Amino acid sequence: MAVAKIMDEVAASSAATTRDEKKVDILLVDDEPSSLLALEAILGSLGQNLVKAASGREALRHLMTREFAVILLDVQMPRMDGYETAQLIGERPSSRHTPIIFLTASHKADVQVVRGYAAGAVDYLFKPLDAEVLRSKVSVFVEMERKAALIRTQAAELAKREIEARQIAEVREQLVLDLGQKNRDLEAANKELETFSYSVSHDLRAPLHGIDGFSQLLLDDYAERLDEVGKKYLQCMRETAQNMAEMIDGLLALARVTRTEIQREPVDLTGLARDVIRRIENRTLQPPRRVEILVDEGLSCDGDTRLLTVVLENLIGNAWKFTSKQPDARIEIGWSPVQTAYFVRDNGAGFDMVYAGKLFGAFQRLHTSTEFEGHGIGLATVQRIVRRLGGQVWAEARIGAGATFFFTLAKGAEK
Ligand SMILES: Nc1ncnc2c1ncn2[C@@H]1O[C@H](COP(=O)(O)OP(=O)(O)O)[C@@H](O)[C@H]1O
Ligand SMILES: [Mg+2]
Repeated sequence: MAVAKIMDEVAASSAATTRDEKKVDILLVDDEPSSLLALEAILGSLGQNLVKAASGREALRHLMTREFAVILLDVQMPRMDGYETAQLIGERPSSRHTPIIFLTASHKADVQVVRGYAAGAVDYLFKPLDAEVLRSKVSVFVEMERKAALIRTQAAELAKREIEARQIAEVREQLVLDLGQKNRDLEAANKELETFSYSVSHDLRAPLHGIDGFSQLLLDDYAERLDEVGKKYLQCMRETAQNMAEMIDGLLALARVTRTEIQREPVDLTGLARDVIRRIENRTLQPPRRVEILVDEGLSCDGDTRLLTVVLENLIGNAWKFTSKQPDARIEIGWSPVQTAYFVRDNGAGFDMVYAGKLFGAFQRLHTSTEFEGHGIGLATVQRIVRRLGGQVWAEARIGAGATFFFTLAKGAEK
């Protein structure tokens, strides 16, 4: 909690204490009952607790059980006089600092005064007492005691707050430690899962290769013993196996993305995009397509060339694929100052934004493979790379009106 707030609350609570102030205790010590009565009469108007003692011994008894704001102590008393009493009061730790005002009839008292101060007196009053002087002196001590009590409560309150703050800090520290441990556990579990999926995908390839190879052998060497339907079944089997092999390759690529070390360097995104486009165009000679492609000049960033190539291959590859039914296909690659992000925009099939949340999950597709072929691994790979590079990827689209994919990279890696 902020210190200012604590101070406010302490001030508020001290205001409350002042309102219903506790009375302070004043000890009156005199062997003369009439003197005690006189003291009582004079000090009564202060509205405090007046405790009376008829001897030094009785005064000490009172001091065993409570503390006083001030003690008015008669000097001349039989058996134990005021000085002796003051001496004993001063020896007790709990009353060592209690102020004492000596009351004496003696005026020859220079020597006595010295004795009195040595015994712990803070003041002297001579009998007969001047009511006004006595009242005003005593009220000074009453006020002092009140202030001291207030400071004591404030100090206690502050100490309490300090303990609370320390406890909160300890709890928070423990939470951070726990969270750190949880994160490490999670990371370890993730690593294990990646290793597992990597090796499973890897091991699945060999038997699949076998299935594909033997179906090919059947088709090549035993074609004359198979009728047309049999051949068609075998052909389907091969295609399915190849499809599965592609999916496994996609999974492997996805796993590899997480496993490879990031090599940060300045990357010319414009150049990279043009390379990717050239490769895609070369791959799609049949049937040839006319696509208008615009790449912003001077796109550069801080990243990993190999990983960013994979990102652009997938995003531009998708734009290429999902514009394939569009006669005036157009693809744009650039930097959006509004979104402060790079983008790949197309005017292709688009999709319903309701399903936008699913896009980046592995094997999630918003189109069927009869509409557009694919396995749904590309965007999962893109997201994993972009996140590893410290950025984010998201999309905007409308059915039939094209899609735009935005991505950012770590701060300071823009345009
Ligand atoms: N440019 C795009 N236009 C329309 N839909 C897209 C586009 N890019 C991705 N999608 C949708 O997101 C899905 C997942 O994309 P992706 O992971 O690359 O898989 P794939 O390309 O193999 O289908 C796609 O099947 C498609 O439904
Ligand atoms: Mg794709």
